[in-house]
Amino acid sequence: MEEKIKSAQEQALSEISQAKTSDDIELLRVKYLGRKGLVNALFGELSSVPAQDKPKVGNLLNRLKIAVSSALDSAKGKTIDAGPAAAADSIDVTMPGRKRSLGRLHPLTQTLDNINEIFLNLGFKIAEGPEIETIYYNFEALNIPLDHPSRDAFDTFYIDDNSLLRSQTSTVQIRVMEKVKPPLAIISPGRVFRPDATDASHSFMFHQVEGLMVDKDIKFSDLKGILEIFVKRMFGEDTRMRFRPHFFPFTEPSAEVDISCIICKGKGETASAGGGKRCSVCGGKGWLEILGAGMVHPNVFSAVGYDPKKWRGFAFGMGVERIAMLKYGIDDIRLFFENDLRFLRQF
Ligand code: DAH
Repeated sequence: MEEKIKSAQEQALSEISQAKTSDDIELLRVKYLGRKGLVNALFGELSSVPAQDKPKVGNLLNRLKIAVSSALDSAKGKTIDAGPAAAADSIDVTMPGRKRSLGRLHPLTQTLDNINEIFLNLGFKIAEGPEIETIYYNFEALNIPLDHPSRDAFDTFYIDDNSLLRSQTSTVQIRVMEKVKPPLAIISPGRVFRPDATDASHSFMFHQVEGLMVDKDIKFSDLKGILEIFVKRMFGEDTRMRFRPHFFPFTEPSAEVDISCIICKGKGETASAGGGKRCSVCGGKGWLEILGAGMVHPNVFSAVGYDPKKWRGFAFGMGVERIAMLKYGIDDIRLFFENDLRFLRQF
């Protein structure tokens, strides 16, 4: 019996030392310590051991049990699949994959990139200016008189007596002309700020792209030609354009520029079952305003030290949100700034 116990112990410890995975160890635990396992079977044989040997054999059996059990426990800590690190390393190929969604450019960034590219291809350079400006750059140098309504605190975020958040990118016209001698052709994309109550078509912050071209004999027809190319590349070849007389202090003459409605194609109504239905995008007018423009005012040239008799130029300014809304048929400006992925994923 003593021999039997000894060889059982040797066999068990050697098998346990060769176990590699926790499954192997569980099988060995069942084989030796299970209800029908070897150790229990040996305990069963204790009844046939002579009475005087029982305490000794019983003692050996108990030691066997303890030896096997502790060998199993310490082997478990060494298996190749042991520990949290090992668990993380092992790959369960039957698990569903973890999907990483690809990011994309914000629709406003896409629109800005589009606008920039069109003008870069026409030879314009990009110029940027500060968002915190002085009264001089935002108004004075742009020939905006002291009593002009846009100077009112209702229309401009003043920081102190002299500085403000720029309300238009026209400021960059001045900053560029102060530094560069003509001829020049620049566009200036950037953020502008106005204390408007937020609604579907107003935001206290939005983006503009300013344009400026100065040379010896720039004509109004150059402005028209450039804008016509822009409009067709941006909204499609069949888009028409019209100029309406308007007033801006920094250009003379000035105009507002409309494009034929991209939804109803200028007809003012969209086809529907019982005949035409008033187009909801242009409100039946057939035209959509997209920008302001004109020939640079002589006072603006004088402010930057250009001789108004020598130089001619045109300027224009457009709202990027408005262009994006028209291009993609978006009816609420707030959608651009809410970070709602259901909206952003559509672009
Ligand atoms: N700065 C004008 C605005 O914010 C837009 C504008 C109109 C810019 C006419 C120009 C221009 O350069 O010539 O409403």
